[in-house]
Amino acid sequence: MPSTPDPQSSSDRASSFSTGADVYARVRPTYPAEAVDWMVPRDAVRVLDLAAGTGLLTGRLVDRGLDVVAVDASRPMLDELTTTLPDVVTHVGTAEEIPLPDAAVDAVVVGQAWHWFDPPRAAAEIARVLRPGGTLAVVWNDRDERIDWVRRFGEILHRGDELHPVSEQGGNTPAVGDPFGELEVAEFRWMHHLATADLRALAGSRSYLLTLPATEREQLLQEVDDLVVTHPDLAGTSEIAMPYITTAYRARRR
Ligand SMILES: C[S@@+](CC[C@H](N)C(=O)[O-])C[C@H]1O[C@@H](n2cnc3c(N)ncnc32)[C@H](O)[C@@H]1O
Repeated sequence: MPSTPDPQSSSDRASSFSTGADVYARVRPTYPAEAVDWMVPRDAVRVLDLAAGTGLLTGRLVDRGLDVVAVDASRPMLDELTTTLPDVVTHVGTAEEIPLPDAAVDAVVVGQAWHWFDPPRAAAEIARVLRPGGTLAVVWNDRDERIDWVRRFGEILHRGDELHPVSEQGGNTPAVGDPFGELEVAEFRWMHHLATADLRALAGSRSYLLTLPATEREQLLQEVDDLVVTHPDLAGTSEIAMPYITTAYRARRR
């Protein structure tokens, strides 16, 4: 990330996550088991977690006994992955130039990252590293903003964000095209439990806040603190359940 990042620049935002990889790993949600079951075919053996970050999705794959390789553009994010998943092979690389040979894996999964890719180039590269008949699955966690305090939290997080305004959250359908077949979609609702005090860190782990100038970032974080002490559903609590809607897409490579 440049020393003075532009919060409205997609490339500056995509490369912002290295700052505070340990916090990211601690407060960001993982993915529900039902979603991972749906994303990865039963007969898959070797799986690529593309844009694996700190390994929040990678860990769910390792739990299933899969042979996982993790690729991410950020070395600090992969270093954090290695602290919890030391046996997973990692490579610094991008979705647009995946450092794997042709037909190397049975499945490719992408958690919370497709929106940072150049879709035509990424789709072509994923098709190259997948064996024929292999599966691509793309997944996002979105906060369920039908709950009042969650909606207010989201409004603070996206104030002034022209790249991913709050109105566009959850509107991601990956355009994968040929040689992928029909794109299927499934939705999973679940709760992520975290310390109420960590809502500040969760907000601060977002690319928009990571790239804002320090004074503007602190203003938004102060608003999160104010929400925590004033909202009746949050005030006085030590732990909260953040409702998430996980939306997963999958398509088979012909
Ligand atoms: C929001 S994090 C998601 C990490 C992880 N998949 C998860 O679910 O927690 C986005 C990740 O995408 C990575 N990234 C951004 N652009 C990328 C690209 N073009 N190719 C590979 N990784 C990329 C970032 O370094 C970051 O680790």
